[in-house]
Amino acid sequence: MKRFFVGLIVLMAAVFIAVVGDAENKNTGIGEAVIHLEKGRMPQVTFPHHMHQKALDNNCNACHDMFPKQPGIIKEMIFQEKLRKKQVMNSKCLKCHKDQKKAGLASGPTQCSACHVRSK
Ligand code: HEC
Ligand code: HEC
Ligand code: HEC
Repeated sequence: MKRFFVGLIVLMAAVFIAVVGDAENKNTGIGEAVIHLEKGRMPQVTFPHHMHQKALDNNCNACHDMFPKQPGIIKEMIFQEKLRKKQVMNSKCLKCHKDQKKAGLASGPTQCSACHVRSK
């Protein structure tokens, strides 16, 4: 009887890990992220997330080598001084958009107001 319960607990743990693990794998993130900034100089940034996943052939590390896959993480890491202000903007967003344009490929905007969208 004791063995049965141990077996049952092991089985339940395995099912739990499988379900939770799967949910994590399937979390491809929101379709459109809003990157919040400190209130002040620039309006927040609206970022079409799914469009980038598609345009970049699901190469998540094109961005997530710099910050983990968590909502609000950019602001959080700037607060913790693990990222400088404008670091993501300059070395990810703008750099890639410029490189893509130079290479004659589909690209994104480089003018301020296209990314820093004033909320209505
Ligand atoms: C072009 C850049 C870029 C690419 C490529 C990218 N992401 Fe993201 N991702 C972001 C940004 C920006 C955020 C928002 C971070 C924040 O809120 O500070 C984000 C947030 C997330 C989040 C957290 C938001 C949520 O809804 O849970 C998940 C999960 C995520 N990404 C998964 C992925 C996966 C999986 C891929 C690859 C298939 C991917 N991302 C590719 C830039 C990117
Ligand atoms: C391709 C999108 C994009 C464009 C174009 C862009 N930005 Fe940004 N900007 C961002 C993102 C994303 C952040 C937040 C992450 C970071 O600080 O790196 C940001 C952050 C900033 C910040 C820091 C604000 C704060 O309080 O943390 C300033 C200032 C800024 N941008 C100014 C500008 C100016 C000025 C222009 C035009 C010359 C511009 N940006 C164009 C995406 C963009
Ligand atoms: C590795 C390359 C890459 C990076 C990094 C990247 N982008 Fe882009 N971005 C693209 C490409 C390619 C397109 C054009 C996609 C298309 O037209 O299918 C695009 C398009 C866009 C657009 C235009 C969407 C529209 O409706 O036309 C915005 C806004 C944008 N990017 C914002 C950002 C922001 C903000 C960041 C940084 C957090 C970022 N991008 C990082 C490659 C990149």
